Amino acid sequence: MLVNGKKYMTIWTDKHNKDVVCAINQNKLPFGFEIVKLKSSGDVIDAIKNMVVRGAPLIGAAGAYSVYLALLEAKRKYKGAFDLNEYLSEKCELITSARPTAVNLRWAVDLILEKVTKQKTLQGKIDAALKMAEKICDDDVRACRNIGMYGRDVIKKISAKKKDGVVNVLTHCNAGWLAVIDYGTALAPVYLAKEAGLKVHVWVEETRPRNQGARLTAWELEQNGIDYSIITDNAGGYVMQNGMVDMVITGSDRTTLTGDVCNKIGTYKTALAAYDNKIPFYASVPMSSFDLSIRDGVKEIPIEERSTDEIMYSEYYDGRDIKKGLITFKTAKIRNFGFDVTPAKYVTGIITEKGIIKPNERSIRKLFRNG
Ligand code: MRU
Repeated sequence: MLVNGKKYMTIWTDKHNKDVVCAINQNKLPFGFEIVKLKSSGDVIDAIKNMVVRGAPLIGAAGAYSVYLALLEAKRKYKGAFDLNEYLSEKCELITSARPTAVNLRWAVDLILEKVTKQKTLQGKIDAALKMAEKICDDDVRACRNIGMYGRDVIKKISAKKKDGVVNVLTHCNAGWLAVIDYGTALAPVYLAKEAGLKVHVWVEETRPRNQGARLTAWELEQNGIDYSIITDNAGGYVMQNGMVDMVITGSDRTTLTGDVCNKIGTYKTALAAYDNKIPFYASVPMSSFDLSIRDGVKEIPIEERSTDEIMYSEYYDGRDIKKGLITFKTAKIRNFGFDVTPAKYVTGIITEKGIIKPNERSIRKLFRNG
C-alpha cells in the first residue's frame, strides 16, 4: 500500500543483500517512518516480541524469515560437526514462543521446516527456507486481495441500500496492511471498495493499551485517502446504538474449527454491541489463521498477557520523540490481557480468500476440503 505516495510491503529481503530482512518499524508509527534491518534469527524474534512487526499474518511471515536467518547463521558459525536438527528445533521453539496467540507463527514455521527437512545440504536448506518465506508472503498478498474482493461485495450491497451510499465500517485494532504483507484482512474490503469507487467511512477504535487503531489503522487510512474517525474503545457501543455503523469487520489471530474468533482485546465487547444492535459482525480471516485442532476458543486458545508497563504508561509524541508518561500510580496492580475470544454465535460471517462462510464446523471443514 502507499506511504507518502510510494508503494511498500511490510517485510522483504534487502535487494542488495538477501541475508538481511527489512521491515517497517511499527513502534515508530505514525510519528516516524523507519525501516529496520534484521540480520539474525534473534533480531527477528526480538522484533516480534517488541511488536516492531505485529499482526498475525505478518508475524507468521517474520517467523519464516527467522528460520531462514537461523540457517544462514548456522552456515557462518558452525564449521565442524554439529547437530543441525537440534539447533533448528531450539531456534523454532524460540520463534514460535515469541508471541503465543496468533496461530500463524506456528503455521509458518512448520511450513518452512517441512521444506527444509527434505533438503540434504545446508545450502539446500537455506535456499528452500528463503523460497518458502517468500512464497508465504506472496500467498498472503493474494489471500488478502481475495478477502478484499469478497468483503467489498458486502460493502457494495449495503451501499446500494443507503440514501447517501456511504457505508460506515467499524473496526478494532489494526487488521490493515501493516498487520499482513499488503492490503490487510479487515481493511482489505475497505481498500477494494475505494478502488471500486464506493464511499466508505471507517470508525477506528483506538485499541488501548497500545493504540494500534489510533496509531496504525488511522495512519494507513489517511495515507490511502479513506475517510475515518478515531473513537475511544468505549464509544463503539454508542455509535452502533445511534445508527452510525453499518457493519463491523475485524481480523482474527486464531479461528477455531467451530468458528470462534480470537482477536485483539476488546473485540468481544464490540461483537456483543453489534449483536445487540443487529449490526453484521464479520471477521476477515485468511486460511493461515485457522486452528482446526481447537474447538472451544474461550477454553483452548492461549491468551497472551503482556507487560503491565503497557497499561501503567501511555506513549505520546512531544514533537521530537516518542515518550512515555505514567497514567496511574506506580504501585497499582495491573493485568494486561492481549486478546479475547468472540464465540461463533456473535459472528455473522467469516470472510476468507475462498469466499464468505458461516462460522460453523461444517462450513469450515468444507472450506479446507475444497482448499
Ligand atoms: O497485538 P497485535 O497488534 O499483533 O494484534 C493484532 C490483531 O489483533 C489483528 O487484528 C490481527 O492480527 C488479526 S488480522 C491481521
